[in-house]
Order: sequence, then structure tokens, then C-alpha cells
Amino acid sequence: IRVAVIGGGRNCEHDVSLASAAAVAEGLEESGYDAVRLTIDPAGVWRDREGRPIGLVGAVHVLRSCAVAFPVLHGPHGEDGTLAALCDLAGVPWVGSSLGAGALAMDKWVTKLVASAVGIATAPGRLLTRGGAGSCAFTHPVVVKPVAAGSSHGVTLVREAAGLGPALDAAFAHDHRVLVEDLVVGREIDVAVLGRPDGSRVVAPALEIVVPEGEIFDLAAKYGGFPDFLLPAPLDEVARKRVEQAAVSMFDALGCAGVARIDFFLTDDGPVLNEVNTTPGFTSQSQVPRMFAATGMSFGVLLDLLVRDALA
Ligand code: DAL
Ligand code: MG
Repeated sequence: IRVAVIGGGRNCEHDVSLASAAAVAEGLEESGYDAVRLTIDPAGVWRDREGRPIGLVGAVHVLRSCAVAFPVLHGPHGEDGTLAALCDLAGVPWVGSSLGAGALAMDKWVTKLVASAVGIATAPGRLLTRGGAGSCAFTHPVVVKPVAAGSSHGVTLVREAAGLGPALDAAFAHDHRVLVEDLVVGREIDVAVLGRPDGSRVVAPALEIVVPEGEIFDLAAKYGGFPDFLLPAPLDEVARKRVEQAAVSMFDALGCAGVARIDFFLTDDGPVLNEVNTTPGFTSQSQVPRMFAATGMSFGVLLDLLVRDALA
């Protein structure tokens, strides 16, 4: 069975996506699939396995020659539903969320609105556009982030008013809309939800990211070394159920499919949603493969299940 594995992308998470896509392609091959590698380069040019530019029409041709597509793009111009939409229009089944869920989850402001509609807390925050940036008052530590980006690119923890301007510049470099959120003090807990075609949901054991006190899990912490994960996260039964229920509620409210990783801060008042990743990191060191491995589901079995579900 030919599976088109799409990696790269025209955004700041290009390299992470290449690593995820390589791991997915290798995992699929180990499970007996024929992985057809397609890459979108940083300029947005589609390239075949040998790196030759093939154009969008060529890419659609390759997609149509495969039984299913496995988009492994992170961030805008990929994870935001655009690749799902392309597969949809091309008439090729694909792994993961549709246009709607990808677009909603990529927009951290809209995700907040959806969360609040289903009773899930998020950090109090406000949306700034370039023109409105000057009106942002500063009284307490905030996290400044682009509305649509990933891997914490353009995200800054700001503790003093002087840091706000540079933080806004860093965030606006990625998006014309920026969120300024109150810093949430809590444990970083990730939950992976796998949606099956019959409507059932498989929730992998929650994972805790150990973040040094007073810091956030930023770009440097994500890729500069080995983040310290606790798996399963040491949670009492009540906290575990609350965070798992909140994760499934978000998965369903956004209309996700396949696997999504839903990230929370666990505070004394319960879980506070940070964000939803409809195409989470898929390298062997990433959270999702490790979380499912903890249930006894190997990477190959997880990939096989995702492909079968997309074809179901
Ligand atoms: N955006 C990165 C790849 C993640 O969520 O794992
Ligand atoms: Mg993300």
C-alpha cells in the first residue's frame, strides 16, 4: 500500500517536520507500507524524494497515485488544515484532522473561544493586532505568542514591562495577530487522544514535562537538549480524569481526527488548556509516540492504525 508522507513546509517548524516525516516514513516501511516521500521546501516548492521540484500539479498527481496521504507538517501552511483541504479536493484519503479542525486548532485565539464554550479554562489573555499593540498595559508576568505558530517560535515569557516591546516584535515576526496571556503557574501535562472512525476515543497516559521552576517549555527547552518527561505523569485519579476528559472534550469540540496532542497546565484549580496540536511531533523522541508506547502500542502499530482508520 502506497502512503504519501508529506514533510517540511513553509514555516518555522520546517526542520521539526522533516524529522517527524522521516520517522513516520521509516515506521511505515517497517510496518510493510510503501512510503512515498514528498517535501514542501521552505519556499513552498513541492519536491519529490530526490529533491526535484514537481510543482503543485505534480504533487497532486503523486498523491492520487497513493492509497492515502499522511501529512506530517507542523504549523501554518500545513497543520492549519491546508494540506487536509488539498487531499480532500484531490480525492485522496488522509491521516488526521480535516480542514476545519486544523484551522481552529492552529488559531490559538479561536481555540480559547472554543474551550471556553465547552467549559475548559484557558489563560486569561487578549488578542493584539499591530495597530492595537501600544494599548497593552503590563501589571504581571505574561506570555506573548503568535496566534498561529508552533514549537514555541516567537514565544516569550515577560516578567518586566521593558521586555514587552521586544516580545511583541518577536511574536509579530510570525503572525499579524498576537496573544498576550497571563502566565499560568502549573504542571505541564500533555494528553494524546486518538479518535477512531467508530467514534471511540483512545487516551494515552498523560505525560508530564518537567520544567524548571520559573521557566516555560520554550524553543530552547524543546530542541536544545533532552526535555525531562515523566510518563505516566504522576497524577491522582481525580486530576487524571479531569485532564483526560478535558482533552477529549477539546478533541471533539474542534472536530479532530486521527491523533491530536492536547497540552495543559495543571493548576491548583484544575487543568488550564494551553493548546491543541492536530499534527503533533512524530519523531521517536516526541511525546505522542512515547505516550502510546507506554500503552504497549509500538510506533509501527500506531502508524498502521492511523493509516487503516484513514482508509476506513
Ligand atoms: N508543534 C510541535 C511539533 C509539537 O506540537 O510537537
Ligand atoms: Mg504546538
